[in-house]
Amino acid sequence: MKICIIGTGFVGVVSAAVFASFGNHVIGLDVDETKIAKLKKGVVPFYEPGLTELLLEEQASGNLEFTTSYETAIKDSEVIFIAVGTPSSPTGQADLKFVWAVGESLASYLQKDAIVVVKSTVPPGTLPKLEEKIRARTKVKFTTAAVPEFLKEGTAVQDTLHPDRIVIGARDEKTFEKLAALHAPLKAPIVKISPESAQMAKYAANAYLATRITFINQIADLCEKNGADVQEIVEAIGYDRRIGNHYWYPGFGYGGSCFPKDVRELAAYSRAIGEDSNLLNKINDLNEHRIPKLLDQYDKIVGGWKRKKVAVLGLSFKPNTDDMREAPSLKVIPDLLEKGATVKGFDPKAVPIVPFFLQEHKNATYTDKLVEALENVDVILALIEWPEITTYDFSGARHKQPQWFIDSRNQFNKSQIQNWGYTYIGIGRP
Ligand code: UGA
Repeated sequence: MKICIIGTGFVGVVSAAVFASFGNHVIGLDVDETKIAKLKKGVVPFYEPGLTELLLEEQASGNLEFTTSYETAIKDSEVIFIAVGTPSSPTGQADLKFVWAVGESLASYLQKDAIVVVKSTVPPGTLPKLEEKIRARTKVKFTTAAVPEFLKEGTAVQDTLHPDRIVIGARDEKTFEKLAALHAPLKAPIVKISPESAQMAKYAANAYLATRITFINQIADLCEKNGADVQEIVEAIGYDRRIGNHYWYPGFGYGGSCFPKDVRELAAYSRAIGEDSNLLNKINDLNEHRIPKLLDQYDKIVGGWKRKKVAVLGLSFKPNTDDMREAPSLKVIPDLLEKGATVKGFDPKAVPIVPFFLQEHKNATYTDKLVEALENVDVILALIEWPEITTYDFSGARHKQPQWFIDSRNQFNKSQIQNWGYTYIGIGRP
């Protein structure tokens, strides 16, 4: 099949490479000339394990190309995926300006019976508006569909190759069939539903996962007051198959480009329809305030942050990505600096993209060498579970008493950290 994917972020590039690996001819399109120039040379403009190898392979096979030209990309394409960003607007609801711009730009090149698929996370009601914008510019017959994406950054290639399900939201059998055939090599269950349900399913999945994380964080907070250990609770209740023991490690709250945004969007949508006291408002509120709350709590334990030297380990929003969107470090570091601490930030990949206002701060330094970040620090704050951090032997960084080790993801062996001489602080552990 001839396919075009518009938008060369995580979702766009990974989907393009995977569809190409199934023998389709895929053109990736973006208006960002710098990005396309890099991709043409086989350079992925962000860090995603396994993606460069797949990209180079598919480019060499001739199945995968990149362009900035709408005409080149759209005129022969049977299926066009829109995978552009949908940032939050000031009201909290999704800003669809990039989706509209794409619809307007592709319209005049559409071939007859083309399918325009929205992969970006968008609210129900988006497709009729998109169709209207396209129809205003072409007489050609086309259909639209919603195929939301469920991949996770850091494991995007594996998630796309082995999805739990494919959700196809369409209105007619021909569109369903063509999209089902395109996804058939993934050998995943295909859920055929309306576009509105597909779009709502995407929001519901992310909001549920964010709620689950917030829930276990609340339980962790209660554990700290009564001597229970949240990790033992996860194990104890996880045997209940209705609950499961996966995907709810407690920590400093959820971040990244999706959960915070999607929860805020659903919360804003609920408010807009008059549901002011909705659960999602509360989830968002709890997550937003989690980091300042924990840092205030630790202030008392470490005897005040003022003049403390703190190694902040892990700057990206999670391991195996250099994405810093809504990363905990972006709240933790300014808060610590504000409280008078000195920060030494470490990350294996994200150091070059630490925002300028933090790079320039006189009390903060950044390194991609863990040993450098640990020199003479009073507090080690293990923020993100990069394997480089969780497998490190921290015994050599011990130099004074007391010295604190904050395990913000409960990833370390508490007794070992204590045996090395640190005062251990976990999440929800006695
Ligand atoms: C998330 C979803 O998991 C994907 O299914 C979805 O496709 C994607 O958003 C999206 O909408 O595009 P992602 O943001 O890449 O994927 O990352 P996750 O691994 O899900 O983590 C999100 C946040 O939750 C991170 O800050 C992570 O540290 C936190 N988290 C995750 C926890 O605090 N506890 C957990 O148990 C799991």
